[in-house]
Amino acid sequence: MTDLRGMKHEGQKIACMTAYDAAFTMLEERAGMDVILVGDSLGMVVQGHDSTLPVTMDDIVYHLKNVSRVSQSAFIIGDMPFMSYANPEQAIENAARLMREGGAHMVKLEGSETQLSIVPELSRRGIPVCAHLGLQPQAVHKIGGYWVQGRDESTAAGMLRDAHALEKHGADMLLLECVPAELAESISGSVEIPVIGIGAGGGCDGQILVLHDAIGVTVGRVPRFVRDFSDKQRHPLQAIRAYVEAVKDGSFPTDDHCFA
Ligand code: KIV
Repeated sequence: MTDLRGMKHEGQKIACMTAYDAAFTMLEERAGMDVILVGDSLGMVVQGHDSTLPVTMDDIVYHLKNVSRVSQSAFIIGDMPFMSYANPEQAIENAARLMREGGAHMVKLEGSETQLSIVPELSRRGIPVCAHLGLQPQAVHKIGGYWVQGRDESTAAGMLRDAHALEKHGADMLLLECVPAELAESISGSVEIPVIGIGAGGGCDGQILVLHDAIGVTVGRVPRFVRDFSDKQRHPLQAIRAYVEAVKDGSFPTDDHCFA
């Protein structure tokens, strides 16, 4: 199993991508992907919804099974969908389902200090947790859009505080989405656990992209932090391999994919 903390401490970048089926799981692993996330982004890129909110536990379990059935090397993270972790009891039951039925090695949930009652309960029961900070797509209607988070001093300080508190309460990984590069770098540098970024600059311990964005098959608007690796590549495997290489050698992301 990939030693993600070891990679952080040795300064090796962690390459992560979403996958939702067997074919792309095998291609991503052939390309050297360290981590595969079965994300609730499947609601948008696979199911055609305009947000991640309609995704259910059954959807995530189904796609996790497709991934874990063929996976041989990647560390697999399963996303907890909207309202599947509203209280500790529900979170424990659903996280166990993602691991037991879906084959996930870790679960990911969105939230900040609101998760401080949930993360220790999962951690205490041996469930590895990734806490998703910054832009939290499940709260899109509360925040009014897909905006960069942590740009002003007080929200930046709050995010740093949340990151430390989540680590202290048992989180094993952080994921930062749409966060100014400087803030993401200071969070990554001040916690022991790996920090994976998406639209959070090159100072994170690893990078993640949604598969469909990275291989250029997303129809419609693609976020600024995405690089389309399909450019001049004849096969998705080459695009995925180009992404893994760019994460590992630090040539992705560049300033063009970051926020200040
Ligand atoms: O659901 C997802 O794919 C995610 C990524 C955007 C990181 O959470």
